[in-house]
Amino acid sequence: MNKIVVITGGSMGIGKATANLFRQKGDIVLSIARQIDEENREFSYIADISNEEQVKNIITQIGEKYKKIDILVNNAGMGVNGALELLPSNVFENVMNVNIKGFFLVSKYALPYMKKGCKIINISSVSGLFASPFRSLYCLSKSAMQMATMCQRMELEKSGIDVCAVCPGEVKTNFMKKRVRITDTNERYGKQVERAFEFLDKHDEGKRMAPEKVAKAIYKQSIRKKSKPFVIVGGSFKLIYFGIKILPTSWVLKLTNKFMGGGKIN
Ligand SMILES: NC(=O)c1ccc[n+]([C@@H]2O[C@H](COP(=O)([O-])OP(=O)(O)OC[C@H]3O[C@@H](n4cnc5c(N)ncnc54)[C@H](OP(=O)(O)O)[C@@H]3O)[C@@H](O)[C@H]2O)c1
Repeated sequence: MNKIVVITGGSMGIGKATANLFRQKGDIVLSIARQIDEENREFSYIADISNEEQVKNIITQIGEKYKKIDILVNNAGMGVNGALELLPSNVFENVMNVNIKGFFLVSKYALPYMKKGCKIINISSVSGLFASPFRSLYCLSKSAMQMATMCQRMELEKSGIDVCAVCPGEVKTNFMKKRVRITDTNERYGKQVERAFEFLDKHDEGKRMAPEKVAKAIYKQSIRKKSKPFVIVGGSFKLIYFGIKILPTSWVLKLTNKFMGGGKIN
């Protein structure tokens, strides 16, 4: 009750659903995003999390006003799809700047306002746990976040600050529509790229979970005395993760590629 909760990307999607849930529970939720959350203007801070000066300023403002940050949810992120070889270098920079540098900067500047009993919850993805074709940069960014979460969990153990990752499967937000789509191909990939996109798009229309389900999982970890190191949200993905743990990696990659790799070259 009455915790100070900072959520990056609280303006929409999973971040907004999470902000709403914490607010319903009586907490003060501050969102950091590039757009204002019109319904919660007073608690909406504008910053691009990949910009160090902006992050420093905003977190300092929050720290000076509220004196502490009880829970930090590193949620803001972006997606990208395409064959690694054909991705423009600026796409690499954009994704890493938001998904990795942004998460690093916000954690770095928020931590001085956090002490024993506080929590950092990083919104990773099942893409941080399992590889998939034509998603290398997104998987890279989320697996890096996943690893950094485990490292920081150990670093902060003695200070009593809990760190965990929440890894959602497919969620019904605008994330997939907004993701960077690089459909470029060449003789090496032929129609594979196009078909891999078709698979994702078809899947996108299917049954994705509501962001409120992820919000509940985030809230659940926030109220545990000690959170789990990471949790997967989405029943089928829990099962896939179990399969990945017990099957040889070569089988897992072959199977994944069969479904998601776009089939034959032409
Ligand atoms: N949707 C899924 O299927 C899914 C699955 C697994 C994991 N995730 C992860 O969950 C997180 C939230 O995704 P979502 O589905 O809720 O996506 P979303 O609806 O697109 O929301 C993304 C949020 O991040 C903010 N954001 C993006 N770039 C930013 C920047 N440079 N600086 C500050 N804020 C920024 C956006 O706000 P502004 O545009 O206002 O800045 C927005 O509030 C992401 O990290 C994503 O990787 C999503």
